[in-house]
Amino acid sequence: MPTLDVSVHLDPTSLAAQMAQDVRDGLTRVPKVLPPKYFYDARGSELFDEITRLPEYYPTRTERAILVEHVAQIAAVTEASTLIELGSGTSEKTRLLLQALQAAGTLRRFVPFDVDPAVLAEASEAVGAEFDGLVVEPVVGDFEKHLGELPRQGRRLLAFLGSTVGNLDREQRTAFFADVRATLGEGDAFLLGTDLVKDPARLVAAYDDAQGVTAQFNLNVLHVINRSLGADFDPDAFTHRAVWDAEEEWIEMRLESARDQDVRVADLDLDVSFTRGEQMRTEISAKFRRAGVAAELAAAGLELVHWWTDPNDDFALSLSVPTS
Ligand code: AVJ
Repeated sequence: MPTLDVSVHLDPTSLAAQMAQDVRDGLTRVPKVLPPKYFYDARGSELFDEITRLPEYYPTRTERAILVEHVAQIAAVTEASTLIELGSGTSEKTRLLLQALQAAGTLRRFVPFDVDPAVLAEASEAVGAEFDGLVVEPVVGDFEKHLGELPRQGRRLLAFLGSTVGNLDREQRTAFFADVRATLGEGDAFLLGTDLVKDPARLVAAYDDAQGVTAQFNLNVLHVINRSLGADFDPDAFTHRAVWDAEEEWIEMRLESARDQDVRVADLDLDVSFTRGEQMRTEISAKFRRAGVAAELAAAGLELVHWWTDPNDDFALSLSVPTS
């Protein structure tokens, strides 16, 4: 077993401090809000995995199909020696990219990048054992903060799949794409997965499935806060909501308070009250159009050179390169 040198830009203390600050800020705002990154403890990651297999949740399988169809071309046009994957929870898609780059004969290095050291260690070891001679260099970090710490050698393909970029609002995306541009040099490329605007009924169903898995996923964030910050949220006193915002073109997940209630967050010495019917936003999942993606990338100094979709135009993979 090769030894893994994990580059850490996020230690557990700063993660906990960040969470404390985010939760305090979010619960004292009007309306209240919680950031989506805290969904993903072990149970949350399991629930998300289950979501990706639901009949209503088309993004994961659609993106995978697009990748299968075009991965050889992605390998051929990028000639990448280093694959960097932001948010490395998507191991199956990672493998498709690694296999194609290996078959093209250019692959040398894999850099999984994730906030969660446990997820990272698991992904790194599995991939390292599977791909002979591959140098695996995991980096622990937050993609909104630490892109500057990514290794710079080789011809790099930076992949950000799953439409996770949809969790960012426009302002956050502007900063994120600027960071992506800043870390990329000539010959590097950026592969981005984006879910596309479509019939609102299908979008809402994807975030409010019949089996209630997404509801459990949404409510899980309350369990995470209870455990991590000594809070006493009663998850049974909140209801899952998924709403399409036609103006912003994003899905909002919310938790609605079923009654008037007070919640104490002991570690923050914070008491918050909810009124019956009050809604707290827990996630935005922005949906995209080709022109918008191209414009946002262009504004950051990235030129969209390929746009691949499924026959239904449900999801898109785009490849962009630094503007010369
Ligand atoms: C992992 C952020 C892409 O927004 O579709 C799935 C998370 N939330 N169901 C998404 C999610 C509810 C997912 N992302």
